[in-house]
Amino acid sequence: MRTVYVNGEYVPENEAKISVFDRGFTFADAIYEVTAVLRGKLVDIDLHLARLRRSLGELALDLPLSDEALLAIHRELITRNQLEEGLIYLQVSRGVEDRNFHFPPEGTPPTVVMYSQAKKVIDSTPAVNGISVISLPDLRWGRCDIKTTQLLYACLAKEQAKAQGADDAWLVREGQITEGTSNNAFIVTRDGAVVTRDLSHALLPGITRSVVNTLLSEHDLRLEERAWTLAEAEQATEAFITSSTSFVWPVISLNGQPIGDGKPGVLTQRLRQIYLDHALAVLK
Ligand code: PDD
Repeated sequence: MRTVYVNGEYVPENEAKISVFDRGFTFADAIYEVTAVLRGKLVDIDLHLARLRRSLGELALDLPLSDEALLAIHRELITRNQLEEGLIYLQVSRGVEDRNFHFPPEGTPPTVVMYSQAKKVIDSTPAVNGISVISLPDLRWGRCDIKTTQLLYACLAKEQAKAQGADDAWLVREGQITEGTSNNAFIVTRDGAVVTRDLSHALLPGITRSVVNTLLSEHDLRLEERAWTLAEAEQATEAFITSSTSFVWPVISLNGQPIGDGKPGVLTQRLRQIYLDHALAVLK
């Protein structure tokens, strides 16, 4: 049984308690982070904590815990749960009050929950075989740049993909692909450019996305951050997704049609390796 963290205490998972009046529960008034763990250490935790601060700021949510304190809790969970490989989930909600659309009074403490989850990140089947995606309309709200727990549409989209025999969905807004349901989307064009959507309120500024973009330029690979269409994706030679729990996964088909030759792309596989080398080098 896991030990989880709830509001300052480490408790067995079956004893952890959250109020039914918690605003995360009633309003999805909460933000979260997911940080990968390899060899019992955290991948790019500083970048995750920086994004956490940004999400908190955008929602005027106060968290009276320093980055050092948050890092220490991450590490304590890894130790107590003897986690070698997987992730640490962190969630901060605007605390507990009788159901009321207005924010609770100033000084209401946020609810902070953290737990570990074991998962094979390095040797995963989709990383080797690739995944299939379908496209679906992006029906999410207008601030997808904030990492909120409002994930219902992502769940519905993943279920729809599954019902159609696919692994995941890419979301399309105004004719252009914003991102995957829980990952950032990339294609490789015929002339060898790697294309991913430029940042805006329409998509999450993925940590893996930003690291991959930096690694591309360090390896003299061409990156284009811009809007791109489904038609362009259909013509791509390769495609892939990035996230903290997948790193880089090849995408081998879109709406039932193969991308390129329908196998994980050479550049994609190289990028996964480059990313893995990075992840192992920044463990903290
Ligand atoms: N999802 N876009 C969306 C909508 C996401 O939910 C995620 C992450 C990403 C990738 O971001 P990052 O590289 O920082 O993990 C992009 C996490 C992993 C999740 O919800 O489990």
